[in-house]
Parts: sequence; C-alpha cells; structure tokens
Amino acid sequence: MVTTDYSDQALIPQISAEHEKLRTLVRAFAQEKIAPIAAEFDESGDFPLDTIQQMGAMGLMGIEVPEEYGGAGMDTLAYVLTMIEVARADASHSTIVSVNNSLYGHALLKFATEAQKEQFLAPVASGEKIGAYSLTEPMSGSDAGTMQSRAVLNDAGTHYIINGRKSWVTSGPVADFVVLFTMTAPEKLHKGVTAFLIEADQPGFIRGKKEPKLGIRASATSEIVYEDYACPVENRLGGEGDGFKIAMTVLDAGRIGIAAQALGIAAAAYEASVAYARERQAFGGPIGQFQMIQQKIADMKTRIEASRLLIYSACAAKERSKATGERYTLESSMAKLFASETAAFVTDEAVQIHGGMGYSKEVAVERYYRDARITRIYEGTSEVQRMVIARGELGLR
Ligand code: CAA
Repeated sequence: MVTTDYSDQALIPQISAEHEKLRTLVRAFAQEKIAPIAAEFDESGDFPLDTIQQMGAMGLMGIEVPEEYGGAGMDTLAYVLTMIEVARADASHSTIVSVNNSLYGHALLKFATEAQKEQFLAPVASGEKIGAYSLTEPMSGSDAGTMQSRAVLNDAGTHYIINGRKSWVTSGPVADFVVLFTMTAPEKLHKGVTAFLIEADQPGFIRGKKEPKLGIRASATSEIVYEDYACPVENRLGGEGDGFKIAMTVLDAGRIGIAAQALGIAAAAYEASVAYARERQAFGGPIGQFQMIQQKIADMKTRIEASRLLIYSACAAKERSKATGERYTLESSMAKLFASETAAFVTDEAVQIHGGMGYSKEVAVERYYRDARITRIYEGTSEVQRMVIARGELGLR
C-alpha cells in the first residue's frame, strides 16, 4: 500500500486571523491613501514622505522587527502580505517599504549589536527615519565582490576612513542611515568586504544626482559619494571581512519582498484587465467573450497564483531558517525569478488588453508596465537568480 506523505503541505504557511486582519488594514490604507496619489507622485518623482511616515506609525516599516525596537513583531508572511497590498496600490511605496524592512531592517535585526539596534534600527522601524542598503557601485553590480570603494582603519584604531562612490542606492536622496558594504582588504576579494552603519548627517557623506528612472519614480534613487567619511569602529556591522556574506544573507530576505512587490503589481494589472475585458465593447459584445482575450486572462491568473505559492513557500523556508539557521537562498531566488517574470508578462498583456488606452497615462496599467520592469533587475537580475538556482542544484559555486 502506498501512503502519501503530506508533510510538504507545511511548506505553504497558513494565513492566520491576525494575518487577515493585517491584510485588511493595509489594503484599506493602500487603496484609500496611496492609490489616489500614485499617478501624481509617479509624474513628479517626489518622495512620498507623508504616507511613508503614516505607514511607519502603523508598524509597517519594521514588520518583523520586535516591538521593543519600534517594529510590529510579526513574521515573514505578514511582511509579504503587506508588500503585495502596498504594491497593488503603488510600486514606488512598496520599494521604500521593502528597503526599510528587508534590506536595512533585516541586516540590523540579524547582525547588529544591542547598541546598534537601539541607535540605528528603532528609528527606522518606527518610520521616523529612512534606511538604505548600499552594495552596488558604477563598476560592480551583479559581480558584487569587485567593489572599488575602500575603508581604512586610522592609526588610532578609532575610525574607518571611507572613500568611494556607490550607485543605485534606493532611498539614497532621503536616507538617514545606510548599511554600506565596502572593501577593508581588497586583496582578499569578496572576503575583504566589510559592512558599516553610516549616518547621513556626518561630514564626507555626499548625495549624488537623483536617477531619472523609467518606473518606481517616487522611490528616490541616487549615487552616494564618500569623501574621507570617518565611521566609528563601533558602527561596523559584524566583523571585518563578513560583509559579503551579510550582503548575500540580507538579499535572500530582500528577494522575497521583491517577489511580493512583483506579485502586487501583477495583481493590480490583472484586476484592471478583467474589469476592462468585461466592460469594453467590440464586435457586438464585451471583449472578454473572445478566446484570444480569455487565453490572456487564463495565463495571467495562472502565473499570478503560481507566483503566490512560490512566495508563500519562500516565507515558510525563511521562518524555518529562524529555528534551523539553514539558508533559504533557493526558495527566495525561485520566488523572485518567477514572480518578476510574471509581473513582466502580466503587465505587458494588460497593456495589450487595454489596446491604445493601455499606452496612455490616463490609465494605471501604463504605470504598472513601467514599474514591473525593475523587479527583473534589482536585488539580483533574473540572470543572477538563474545562476544562484542552477549553481545550488548542480552543487557548483
Ligand atoms: N547567503 C550566505 N552566504 C552566501 C550566499 C547567501 N545567499 N551566497 C553566497 N554566499 C557565500 C558563499 O558561500 C561563499 O562563501 P565562502 O567564500 O566562505 O566560500 C561567498 O559568499 C562567495 O560566494 P560565491 O562564490 O557564490 O560568490 P560570487 O562572487 O560568485 O557571486 C552572486 C555570487 C550570486 C552572483 C552574487 O554576487 C550576487 O548575488 N550578485 C547580485 C548582487 C545583487 O543582487 N545586487 C543588487 C544590490 S541591492 C539593490 O538592488 C539596490 C536596492 O537598494 C534595492
């Protein structure tokens, strides 16, 4: 007799009553306060500080951060449900939420000392301050272990003197604190990278030009230049040489958030497409009666729900890792890869279903199409995700 082992069902976490309450709360806030201003902020490219601070007061800037550090003390699924709802209303807002929570917040939560958490985590988790994560440089993107910036310990052994140029820093134009990755021992390549907690109001921290972006335009992005920035030794995050592993560990968490963002954008585009297919008339009836539109709707829905399962499975893997310490790199990369490619597919089909209207700024699908594009690039391109997945499966490095 064959007995089926259903234990894999535990890979998909259950949505509890508390999660449902959070989702309802975030959905209401996102639809009432964020969705109505999304197009205006996309056009102006202004940073939506007011709504971000309101979300901070709701605990949404540090969802997994314990309450004693100003967060909501919830789990990864709560973070994912929040990201989906915020992204459904506006991808730019969700980018800011994701950096504060899972790049900046996760780095501090996992690697900071008590004193560092009090000074650097609590104000960001409560939404009073903005955090950023800075790995990329003009000549070092996917090949993250080749950075040119340097941190040199001074003779007194009290400060690291940091020089260099970091690029594509999300929230760079407004960040109060930055988790910075830079080289303390360049000859050791990736083993020479060290992480630091940077205060933006100190001398030698220079914000560069704001990037004029295709999408997520209200999420400010810039270069940051360091010119003899003196970072106290006590603001080093982890040990010397731990930086690359910290960066990668944090990206495992971050990629789940970007997958959820991609799902939220795709869901918004899908919902708009279903509504349009029901109401738009052509050839004597709603366009939804045509099989070519039906095929698009079926494929969009199926890929969205498949993305959701991969994301929930990555949530469960991350939760398990809190107890076991095991990496969830594979689950996180698969969720990010599939959800971001789904967002590209769904937003493209959404524009197609809307026809000429889909190409106009008069309807939101035009923005969803542009916003979705970044999810295949940041926090590791689709090519990097495929590399991570395949290397893991093949036992290669
Ligand atoms: N967790 C923990 N450790 C990890 C790890 C992970 N996920 N991935 C790799 N490591 C460790 C390895 O075990 C290895 O350790 P040892 O030296 O002790 O053996 C070390 O790190 C080096 O690993 P690799 O040899 O695999 O490293 P690599 O140089 O070949 O690079 C890579 C691998 C996957 C391509 C990696 O460089 C990468 O992910 N690149 C993309 C970077 C990225 O996502 N950038 C986006 C920046 S954030 C952003 O987008 C901006 C924003 O603000 C939103």
